[in-house]
Amino acid sequence: MTALSGKRILLVIGGGIAAYKSLDLIRRLRERGASVRCVLTNGAQQFITPLAASALTGQRSHTELFDREDEADIGHIRLARDADLVVVAPATANLMAKMAGGHADDLASTVLLATTLPILIAPAMNVRMWLHPATQRNLKALEDDGVHVVGPNDGAMAEVEFGPGRMAEPLEIVASAERLLAPSGPLAGKHVIVTSGPTHEPIDPVRYIANRSSGKQGHAIAKAAAEAGARVTLISGPVTLPDPSGVTTVHVESAREMLQAVEMALPADIGIFAAAVADWRVANAGEQKIKKKDGALPNLSLTENPDILATISHLTENRPPLMVGFAAETEHVIEHAKQKLAKKGCDLIVANDVSAAAGVMGGDSNKVHLVTASDVETWPTLAKTDVATRLVERLGAMVGDAKP
Ligand code: CTP
Repeated sequence: MTALSGKRILLVIGGGIAAYKSLDLIRRLRERGASVRCVLTNGAQQFITPLAASALTGQRSHTELFDREDEADIGHIRLARDADLVVVAPATANLMAKMAGGHADDLASTVLLATTLPILIAPAMNVRMWLHPATQRNLKALEDDGVHVVGPNDGAMAEVEFGPGRMAEPLEIVASAERLLAPSGPLAGKHVIVTSGPTHEPIDPVRYIANRSSGKQGHAIAKAAAEAGARVTLISGPVTLPDPSGVTTVHVESAREMLQAVEMALPADIGIFAAAVADWRVANAGEQKIKKKDGALPNLSLTENPDILATISHLTENRPPLMVGFAAETEHVIEHAKQKLAKKGCDLIVANDVSAAAGVMGGDSNKVHLVTASDVETWPTLAKTDVATRLVERLGAMVGDAKP
């Protein structure tokens, strides 16, 4: 077993003479148990053919953004999602510039913009192009965006110049990919499901019932869990936040959709239910927009939504061994949290005061109490990102303790 066993690599091949080395890279990745799917830019096809890449990967190679067959077959959004790592080799100066600028004018750049997976680039270009301030600026921007870089190496170039710009050797790229995919951190090897944000419950096709949750706390937890080495499935209600990188995000609208998405994501080692799920939905939601009728008011009748946390906590099969709920309270915070812990059957409740004066809903900071059956621990007011990091550290210790 290597870190690459069973991993899916999306290899984006840019247009440079080093593209021929990418064919060897495919072999090396596959020898280590990875499956490889290729996207070739137009430039890449000047050096190698999609057929050569397909012959080595054993899978169809992709070249066109607006290809009817491709879109019907897999589509650029799924290409950007259905992998564990995206490797760009060679990453030409042009491809790096497009990535840094967020361009999406061909399949390769569109996939790179659409993906939330970790990206590893292996730059390759003429030494002057590499050293040009524009390329160095783009490199910095990409590194700031979390893109990982391997190489380039010093050496003789195809144009008989010497200096940095040669693409890293296939085995060096493989080693970087292995490092990126090797699980490390307190939650390494764990699958964590996080729910986040509000739910929207339709009144009719254009109106809905919602709440003030921003999803900031849940999204921060998903990101922190991924940084702690976990495989994270984030099930998000409608929010304006970007999908956290390195996390599989499933977008839902209503409580019932959220429950279904959680059930689909099982099994998991930890469930963290941070979403502010609407307690009720409209039983008689209109299929058409409800019209005003001579001053008569519509009669909305409400019905209770499923309780996602309680449903999953009470599963007899497939219950994640560690279940964490939140308690949004406006008064008697700890007392209510203790009641919720018992009623919902979870192992830990993160209780917070969501009264308007506390400014938690939509704000950037949070003051929480960790409530278990035997203990209450109060944390100081912290940034939501710090609450997330500390909570993930704590959960790491709890699952660590639970090991035989
Ligand atoms: N929760 C859930 N499904 C629901 C309602 C709540 O999964 N239909 C989860 C929340 O994600 C949170 C916990 O249950 O982890 C508590 O949510 P909260 O809104 O504080 O409590 P409610 O159960 O809605 O109870 P109440 O509104 O009476 O405070």
